[in-house]
Amino acid sequence: MKYFIGNWKMFGIPKSINILNKINSFYTKDKNRSKYKVVFTPPYTLIQSYSRYFKKKKINIGSQNCYQKDKFSSNTAAVSPYMLRTVGAKYTLVGHSDNRSEGDNDTILKNKVELALRNKLKVVFCIGENKIQKRNKKTLSVLKRQLTKVLDKKFNKNNIIVAYEPIWSIGTGKIPKLNELNKTVLHIKKILKKIFRKKSPPLLYGGSVDGKNAGIFKEIKEIDGFLIGGASKSSKKFIDIIKNYYR
Ligand code: PGA
Repeated sequence: MKYFIGNWKMFGIPKSINILNKINSFYTKDKNRSKYKVVFTPPYTLIQSYSRYFKKKKINIGSQNCYQKDKFSSNTAAVSPYMLRTVGAKYTLVGHSDNRSEGDNDTILKNKVELALRNKLKVVFCIGENKIQKRNKKTLSVLKRQLTKVLDKKFNKNNIIVAYEPIWSIGTGKIPKLNELNKTVLHIKKILKKIFRKKSPPLLYGGSVDGKNAGIFKEIKEIDGFLIGGASKSSKKFIDIIKNYYR
């Protein structure tokens, strides 16, 4: 199963649902539809209404983040996995580089993953090196640390997806060289197999994925889909990614 996950970040108002409606219509007619799932993570403000609307349709709704405490707490502006689940979220991103840069460390992220899973959310756990780490050839060791510090063998791997997003590639139009990406992806899968006893959760690539470059990634069989930021705000661009991937 492949995944095309659209991450809207700080984008969207109620009527932006039109974008998802077009993608839903494409999906229901696409001859390749049995091969992939479509998930969108709109901002918190839209999760309930969008989840309700797409309940019997094909698009799954998730959250971009969640708080590291269960149920309710006294943390202003925090939203727990439990609260997300009750308004219909099925997935949540955890560890996006935007949130890591705002203070999410390995301990916090581990709590988030654990609580999200406990509240029946599928977790899309994001990892990735920054420009300096890449320049210093630290990519593989950084990724290993990010994975092993947070993912635990006791977690249910069937409810985890990992997204590799090099920070230098997010929103920049730059993508990794194919041979480098291939090496990195194999490295990540090897670590995941070690953590989860032989079977790795799905591994997505994210960072400047668009309709033009989506086809290139097909060459790397170990990539199980994409986490798409900028291009997910346009139905045409998002559909182009799927079309080019299956061309
Ligand atoms: P991008 O964002 O596709 O705009 O590079 C990806 C992400 O941050 O998830």
